[in-house]
Amino acid sequence: MTDTDIYIQRLLEANPLREPLLRSVIQALQLPPGSRGLDVGCGIGLQELLLADAVGCDGHVTGVDVVPEFLAFGEKLAGQFCLSERISFRLGDMNRLPFDEDTFDWAWSADCIGYPAGELVPQLKELMRVVKPGGTVVILAWSSQQVLPGYPLLEARLNATCSAYLPFLKGKGPELHFLRALQWFREAGFEEFKAQTFVGDVQAPLSSDERTALTSLFEMLWVEPQPDLLSEAWMEYQRLCKPESADFILDQPGYYGFFTYSMFRSKVPRK
Ligand SMILES: C[S@@+](CC[C@H](N)C(=O)[O-])C[C@H]1O[C@@H](n2cnc3c(N)ncnc32)[C@H](O)[C@@H]1O
Repeated sequence: MTDTDIYIQRLLEANPLREPLLRSVIQALQLPPGSRGLDVGCGIGLQELLLADAVGCDGHVTGVDVVPEFLAFGEKLAGQFCLSERISFRLGDMNRLPFDEDTFDWAWSADCIGYPAGELVPQLKELMRVVKPGGTVVILAWSSQQVLPGYPLLEARLNATCSAYLPFLKGKGPELHFLRALQWFREAGFEEFKAQTFVGDVQAPLSSDERTALTSLFEMLWVEPQPDLLSEAWMEYQRLCKPESADFILDQPGYYGFFTYSMFRSKVPRK
């Protein structure tokens, strides 16, 4: 399997956990029926399906991403759902979007812009350029999780010492963290700011898709142990988070976990 194939597989595996929550976010946005939107860093197009559903038959969603294989996957997916006329894909970089000014009524970006940390102002200004005055720009990202019930200290230790996010956060000041996005919207010149966090719950009995999604999540969240992780903590992780272990946490009949997505949205000022 290539790295691209593995990435596609991870996105597909995570979807049963993410989709219900992302549907709630989209519902809260109340996107205007018949509107035209942009999905930045659209990946394999999973959210295009939800966004196209939200804007209805007269609406349209364009996904942009830098990986051609993701876009090809998304095109196939849209075809399978008979949505090819309402969804299109374009190869492009979010820093220099391949669209004219005022092309879209809204823009959406999940787990891409500013995630988990980055220099957001130039990217938000680029979104402001392609979205019409009065249009909405929404960015959202995974912001927390509690998925090892009964082991809060272990989970905190894993997050602090072997989080897959660590390389992306290294050297980035607190002002660049995703949860500071409101300030970035302000600095980019947007108006009407709203931040909101959505929760996804998962509880036993788990469907096989949820089980696969959580197992994959454990592998994605916590990677190779760092020198400052106690070896007992890493052994405890193996005991609780590996399906082959007799103590695999997802086998607990009362398993419950949750995760959150934080959303920031704002409006392009009217000229
Ligand atoms: C974590 S994935 C999220 C995909 C999708 N938004 C989702 O939530 O399923 C991040 C995506 O951002 C894309 N990406 C990264 N840098 C980009 C850039 N400069 N311009 C456009 N897309 C980019 C990646 O190729 C990847 O598909």
